Amino acid sequence: MKLLVVGAGGREHALAWKLSRSPRVRRVYVAPGNGGTAREPGLANVPITDIDALGDFAAREGIAFTVVGPEAPLAAGIVDRFRARGLRIFGPTQRAAQLEASKHFAKSFMQRHGIPTAASETFSEPAAAHACVDRRGAPIVVKADGLAAGKGVVVATSLAQAHEAIDTMLTANRLGEAGARVVIEDFLQGEEASFIVLVDGHHVLALASSQDHKRLLDADRGPNTGGMGAVSPTPAVTSEIHARVLREIVRPTVDGMAADGTPYTGFLYAGLMIEPGGAVRTLEFNCRMGDPETQPILVRMKSDLVDVIEHALDGTLDRASIDWDRRTAVGVVLAAGGYPDAPRKGDEITGLPRAGAAFGDDCWVFHAGTVLERERLVTAGGRVLCVTALGESTQAAQGRAYRAAESIRFAGMQYRSDIGARAASAAATRD
Ligand code: AMP
Ligand code: GLY
Repeated sequence: MKLLVVGAGGREHALAWKLSRSPRVRRVYVAPGNGGTAREPGLANVPITDIDALGDFAAREGIAFTVVGPEAPLAAGIVDRFRARGLRIFGPTQRAAQLEASKHFAKSFMQRHGIPTAASETFSEPAAAHACVDRRGAPIVVKADGLAAGKGVVVATSLAQAHEAIDTMLTANRLGEAGARVVIEDFLQGEEASFIVLVDGHHVLALASSQDHKRLLDADRGPNTGGMGAVSPTPAVTSEIHARVLREIVRPTVDGMAADGTPYTGFLYAGLMIEPGGAVRTLEFNCRMGDPETQPILVRMKSDLVDVIEHALDGTLDRASIDWDRRTAVGVVLAAGGYPDAPRKGDEITGLPRAGAAFGDDCWVFHAGTVLERERLVTAGGRVLCVTALGESTQAAQGRAYRAAESIRFAGMQYRSDIGARAASAAATRD
């Protein structure tokens, strides 16, 4: 069969790579893809981003099903448009994708259905928002309602920072329509983790747990980014926490969406705050897999992802299961100089294998911001590569990933040297 993956990042390279390993798959098209998907055996890039043109392509090529990586096409209604033409596609409808596309939608949904999250209020009037901040005090969190490519959340440690965030979003309209409403919510403390499940409208199948590293610099310093690396599993998600998240967050979300007439299908990502006492709250929902969480999760997946997604498309996820490699996977993002504000582009990348993600035993390099210019690989975005390795321990996986990272070169390359360190120290404390 032939499949289509929509997107151009490291998540999409990993998804397409994993799907292509199924013995049932002849080719995976990636639209528009990147320099890594261009060179991966079994994959082919398609230079299309328009939704109707993607539908034409899927119909013409007889694509068995399409998997959507990023949120933007989901929020724009790609699933609705494909389904209307009888094309199989895995993802949420436009209305269901509001769980990510509108923080106000997600917060009022959670409040209505009793799903634990930080207490919040929504404002479109600056004066009322400023008054709320004064009333609630700092630290406090100000979030743009709409999709803002990772720039929409300000964790304010002072009142001044919170007021400034409101000015930026509501008064100066710096984020455009996405910042026309703001959600102001309580600051939560604890350990963050990513909890991603597949949903078929009713049944749920959990993926392995993971943890992102959102700050640019070691020891969680510096500005927020799209994610500088991830580890799977994370010891923060014990079997008790896992059960609690399914019972208190995922199950009521899937049931609530169905009861509201917007049944959820696709990957559902709950960003968790695990509080010191073991209570779990939802920081955010994403209507897709995480990037870079996907990369370490998928190198641990032993089952055939094609079979699992087919179950999800058929509404029979209750009959599916996933086998996981028991080892730990660490994914280290190699980012461009200047990332996240102004990443440099156009630098040649050297030290990579000639074709494919595989980089020695139990190590893979997934591409994100790269393009293939004739035979040269060149940087083309903020997050350039994600070096992902498996190991018997977090330290072993780190060692393998960092050795590989050291052999890769491009001008201005930057990466964190402590991806997985929190997981490693938690495991050491436990042992
Ligand atoms: P979000 O896009 O909503 O996940 O927010 C991005 C990051 O901001 C999260 O990964 C957290 O580190 C932080 N964050 C968001 N909401 C809160 C909160 N209520 N309390 C503390 N930190 C938060
Ligand atoms: N890694 C965080 C995200 O994908 O939203």
